[in-house]
Amino acid sequence: MSVVCIEFKPGLEGVPATQSSVSYVDGQLGILEYRGLNIKELAKKSSFLETAFLLIWGVLPQKEELESFEDDIRYHRRTKYRIRDMMKCFPETGHPMDALQTSAAALGLFYSRRALDNPEYIRTAVVRLLAKIPTMVAAFQLMRKGNDPVQPKDDLDYAANFLYMLNEKEPDPLAAHIFDVCLTLHAEHTINASTFSAMVTASTLTDPYAVVASAVGTLAGPLHGGANEDVINMLSEIGSVDNVRPYVEKCLETKAKIMGFGHRVYKVKDPRTIILQELAEKLFDKFGWDKYYEIALEMEKVVEEKLGHKGIYSNVDFYSGLVYRKLGIPNDLFTPVFVIARVAGWLAHWKEQLATNRIFRPTQIYEGEHNVSYTPIEER
Ligand code: SDX
Repeated sequence: MSVVCIEFKPGLEGVPATQSSVSYVDGQLGILEYRGLNIKELAKKSSFLETAFLLIWGVLPQKEELESFEDDIRYHRRTKYRIRDMMKCFPETGHPMDALQTSAAALGLFYSRRALDNPEYIRTAVVRLLAKIPTMVAAFQLMRKGNDPVQPKDDLDYAANFLYMLNEKEPDPLAAHIFDVCLTLHAEHTINASTFSAMVTASTLTDPYAVVASAVGTLAGPLHGGANEDVINMLSEIGSVDNVRPYVEKCLETKAKIMGFGHRVYKVKDPRTIILQELAEKLFDKFGWDKYYEIALEMEKVVEEKLGHKGIYSNVDFYSGLVYRKLGIPNDLFTPVFVIARVAGWLAHWKEQLATNRIFRPTQIYEGEHNVSYTPIEER
């Protein structure tokens, strides 16, 4: 029996798109859980890869399982030289998210055997994507500067190795730890736009590289993951604490969106933002102050005063850029770094989708005409 829901909800607000046990958000209380575990506890106690395992396989790994997962990822960190050659041909002026989307899709050319009902195929695809995406992000950054990519370093863990490949030197241990926590915080967030896009693509039973590539393209937009880059551009444009109030007032007057604020689900401050702010302060204590932080604090104050009654508070993209700047990550890599983390969530939903798959094929409310008579070209 086919059921037709006739009420149209723009942006599918409040419409369940799936049944899932990957994560949970309480937008009124500001709670985020991965597989029932509170994000605050995971951020303190679990590494990113341990969290990725939890998201994808549903349970925290045993010690040996985690070691074997980490070893497999370390082994697969290198990319084929032809992927690097392909990336060398990308224009250096191109956005790193476009480079990443193309490179993620290109993995499908090299690992084309598709066996979605084989758990070993699923595991290998998960390992390859988690392992190679950071390498591709760092490689594009170095190559667009005219340098050769830095090879992964096997004695460094996941987060430290990325910072090493990017900055061409081993990171400070506190910096590497904080980056790992950032990855955990960004790893998953229920049915956001990019995850929905991953699920729709997955539902056609295409390969996992196409699933991730479509999600990367979706995350790139400024209303979603791309907002983290725009936040820093906005803080730079504002320039000083005194300019914050007039800037916010102008946005409200012209109905422009204030980047890093508002959320479809959270009506309070995003719990990830609270942790990211603490991490930023730890970095400032050790590596020095960031003038944008004062502007950011004033923005939070003014936006809360003006828009708090609508449930508009800072979201995950508001403070992440301030943390990444201190880690030596350039502005236009903030969203690719979001991908490094979020690929874990996308893959968890890919796996969940495959277990109970039915192709996504919603309906529409047609508003066009019928039985229109055809006008020959010379009479139009
Ligand atoms: C992420 O979904 C997820 O879980 C996403 C994410 C994840 O982890 O995957 O959390 C990551 O994408 C964070 C969001 C990053 N985007 C931004 O920071 C861009 C700025 N924010 C907005 O554009 C907006 O708040 C959205 C896109 C995040 C949410 O959009 P909605 O739910 O469609 O809300 P809306 O645009 O319809 O706004 C509702 C009202 C409007 O006012 P009214 O017309 O009803 O009077 O709130 C106002 C909006 O004008 N509003 C804002 C605002 N956000 C909402 N007004 C000014 N500035 C804002 N940022």
